[in-house]
Amino acid sequence: MKKDFISILDISRDELSELIGTACRLKEERKVGVFPPHLSQKTLGMIFEKSSTRTRISFEVGMYELGGHALFLNPKDMQLGRGEAIKDTARVMSRFVSAIMIRANSHQAIIELAAHGDIPVINGLSDKEHPCQILADIMTIVEQLHRTEKVKVAWVGDGNNVCNSLILSAILTGMEIRIACPAGYQPSDSYIKTAREQGAVIDLGEDPLVAVKDADVVMTDTWVSMGHEEETREREKIFARYQVNKELLAHARPGAIVMHCLPAHRGYEITDDVIDSNQSVVWDQAENRLHVQKALLLRLLA
Ligand code: CP
Ligand code: NVA
Repeated sequence: MKKDFISILDISRDELSELIGTACRLKEERKVGVFPPHLSQKTLGMIFEKSSTRTRISFEVGMYELGGHALFLNPKDMQLGRGEAIKDTARVMSRFVSAIMIRANSHQAIIELAAHGDIPVINGLSDKEHPCQILADIMTIVEQLHRTEKVKVAWVGDGNNVCNSLILSAILTGMEIRIACPAGYQPSDSYIKTAREQGAVIDLGEDPLVAVKDADVVMTDTWVSMGHEEETREREKIFARYQVNKELLAHARPGAIVMHCLPAHRGYEITDDVIDSNQSVVWDQAENRLHVQKALLLRLLA
């Protein structure tokens, strides 16, 4: 049966640790110029309904380095953008490419694409989840802290797609997630319920100081996710006290690492002196998208 990667829970705990192991090996091999062509003759179709720097480049470079090929597909240039049904697109693409990576406005559309296609579908970000990002985040935490079990991760800001994936990942990693979001911007109840029912420790509140206290990792993301641009002014006011700055970071464990999936809005959710400090691991985090997605592509396609 074909495998999809639409949610971080599409893999098990064991599969996650195997995947991170493969990603670390690929990272080492790449440093010494070793590029085994495991995906020769394989093609990844990449549909982007929203902008991207990291996801697009890392998947495209990743496929190239594995000996395969990636196609960038703008839905505006596809018949999809003129109303061709998702299920018809899924059936046709299944005849041409080996897998689809899609960044979509609607999570449901990704589920529909996967349901009607015969090939693996990867979620490259939806309104609900960003599982590839969380894979890279877990790899970065393992590199930095050499474990995930009981690692205290503070999430400060918007309870968005990345936050939802972080919450679910706690089921697989044993990380303890402490969330501080303003009222009305908290992550979906269903994600918290699912995680707690499967034994994850998820604390939810509104106070950034409480979330960050003694944290090993301080994580944030934009206050204005793609698709919410019209709410920018209002959100900037509501989120003002959710900025990751030196003062807030001083409440975390000394030497705590700072993470951000990027793109960052400097001076808003994170200050220059934090993102550019030696506690920030955001550039490694971005690089790890490449390694972890290559490991994912091998799992789905090799
Ligand atoms: N973090 C992330 O997914 O970045 P892009 O939007 O640039 O792909
Ligand atoms: N939460 C952000 C992540 C961007 C990579 C967004 O959805 O725009």
